[in-house]
Amino acid sequence: MNKITIIGAGNVGATCANVIAHKDLAKEVVLVDIKEGVAEGKALDIWQSSSINNFNSRVIGSTNDYLKTKGSGIVVITSGLPRKPGMSRDDLIKTNALIVKEVTEKVIKYSPEAIIIVVSNPLDVMTYAAYMTANKPSQKVFGMAGTLDTGRYKAFLAEALDVSPKDIHAMLLGGHGDTMVPLPRYTSVNGIPVTELLSTDVIEKIVERTRKGGGELVNLMGTSAWYAPGAAAAQMVEAIVDDQKRIFPICAYLNGEYGLKDIYLGVPVKLGRKGVEEIIEINLDADEKKLLVDSANSVKETMKVLDDMNLF
Ligand code: LAC
Repeated sequence: MNKITIIGAGNVGATCANVIAHKDLAKEVVLVDIKEGVAEGKALDIWQSSSINNFNSRVIGSTNDYLKTKGSGIVVITSGLPRKPGMSRDDLIKTNALIVKEVTEKVIKYSPEAIIIVVSNPLDVMTYAAYMTANKPSQKVFGMAGTLDTGRYKAFLAEALDVSPKDIHAMLLGGHGDTMVPLPRYTSVNGIPVTELLSTDVIEKIVERTRKGGGELVNLMGTSAWYAPGAAAAQMVEAIVDDQKRIFPICAYLNGEYGLKDIYLGVPVKLGRKGVEEIIEINLDADEKKLLVDSANSVKETMKVLDDMNLF
């Protein structure tokens, strides 16, 4: 791909740019931030690792000059305030909605064809805000959460089982919040159902830790995480650039799927060059369905705050 842009050169954005450059996913990786010099500095730092880490992607930084982003094939939006201890992702909504709207308008002006991946929190609602602003098909506007949340879930399971995280396959539904729905019934260790390898009790503890996985890190570090979030967004970018048709849980627009309408929520999709190429509806038992509906209701509660802002 010719150009990939990452908006926001904070920890998540810079990590994402770093991983994208390492994987040589684009000729040019553009990092944009509003803080004078920060994007330029981090981009230069990453670029100076090119000969050490063996990549060719040119990494360029810009202080709010969106002309440099012109013609991007993919834009990752990470802008917004991160969580502090004691805050939920939803506490960020008013500030971040205004930021995401402004940023998306500028992105679309210079890259009308770009696929947009939203990472800003509260994720499901910010993805909706970007979709409303961008005014393009939902196949090309979606959010990153499930790849991160399943990443955490897999890491905890690999630890409990003392196996490679690469052998854990897992699915997860719902919003990127404490109501997310990891699915043990759809989790396996290279095909062996995890329910045969771990007790219900241990699985339930891991599911709970996954739900609060972001908060655990906020409590430890005083701000939200970046290594796994940045890498998880880059994993989605890679699936698109290489047209991999990977099946990932991502935050997608639902129009009747899972019995839900006009909402962005985490569901499994096929991700390829065209963006969301298919939303996959898996069978859910009564308990799983209830958890998904609860999660959707929690996202809808947050949506009300966005609706009341009358931005669109
Ligand atoms: C997290 C933030 C990025 O889950 O939402 O760590």
